Amino acid sequence: MAARLPGSGREAPRPPDRPVIVLGLETSCDETAAALVTCDRRILAQRVASQMDVHAPFGGVVPELAARAHVERLAPMVQQVLDEAGLSLAAVDAIAATAGPGLVGALMVGLVTGKALAFAAGKPLVAVNHLEAHALSPRLVDPGLGFPYLLLLVSGGHCQLLGVEGVGRYRRLATTIDDAAGEAFDKVAKLLNLGFPGGPAVEAAAREGDAGAVPLPRPLVGTPEPHFSFAGLKTAVLRAVDSGGHAPADLAASFQAAVADCLVDRTARSLATFPEARALVVAGGVAANRTIRERLAALAEDHGLPFVVPPVALCTDNAAMVAWAGCERLAAGPVDEPDAEARPRWPLDPEAAPVRGAGVKA
Ligand code: KG4
Ligand code: ZN
Repeated sequence: MAARLPGSGREAPRPPDRPVIVLGLETSCDETAAALVTCDRRILAQRVASQMDVHAPFGGVVPELAARAHVERLAPMVQQVLDEAGLSLAAVDAIAATAGPGLVGALMVGLVTGKALAFAAGKPLVAVNHLEAHALSPRLVDPGLGFPYLLLLVSGGHCQLLGVEGVGRYRRLATTIDDAAGEAFDKVAKLLNLGFPGGPAVEAAAREGDAGAVPLPRPLVGTPEPHFSFAGLKTAVLRAVDSGGHAPADLAASFQAAVADCLVDRTARSLATFPEARALVVAGGVAANRTIRERLAALAEDHGLPFVVPPVALCTDNAAMVAWAGCERLAAGPVDEPDAEARPRWPLDPEAAPVRGAGVKA
């Protein structure tokens, strides 16, 4: 058992004259982020520093460099958001830090910083699950969004369908058996020499192309199993590139249409097994894609459901969603987790059956 820090058992005071303020910290992968959010849904300040410059020469995220960059950037960023909001640390009621899933060294930077700030300020620490932060983020911007809802979480690291039944109550209905959708966009962008970041580059190229030009597979579409798969689609694009004769714009458009078909089919399947859903919600960087958003909006409409997508800055990795998850957890009952450990793997639904090849996507 880890020793408990003095001061554990702290509770966020609920001053009657102002809403609770939470400082959120996010360092699970290659984005350093800090934000101040009030629990009545105002973002007082938020910053995100991408580490693209650090990792670009290596063609992927280098965990050790990610952790070092978080160390350099996080503390000044906390000061910046406090300054921007015109607050001192003493005015913050709780600290929420991402504790997993993610790169362990990267997670430790944010979590230990959160612990130190909580200890120094005598305020409670909320150890946040990054996936939970994505799952609850739409409620930060949409006060009317009640449970339960179906969440499609599609980013470079995650591709999941979650039944969100309440704070702390998640059912993982589907996950990817190989690549995440954003990862597939990034790999295809590389194949087509479209540059980085891949998703927006493929989307821009696709605008000039014909989505029907290149026949591509739709892995798992129509199958009774609920999961996603994108590796075969990416390989099919590689073969089409190698065979020559296709314009990059046509390949991009055909690929994007195939991903959209997969996402819509898989989401429809989970809607059928989660009929209690009162809304269809999409989060994650891929939700920035217009074609995909439009197709999912149409699906929601077909099912008579509201369609909710948070603004892009809240869809991609950020700390406002972490602070908001802190608000949601505090509203559900007293929380203080000064002994929390970084958890590189931390599934939201521990009951979900393991899926072949999906380990790292948690
Ligand atoms: O949520 P996010 O910022 O970071 C994590 O991966 O957690 O998502 C980034 C991913 C990348 O794979 C990127 O290519 C993809 O989202 N993405 C897009 C678009 N914008 C970002 N994919 C398709 N179309 C886009 N417009
Ligand atoms: Zn994320």
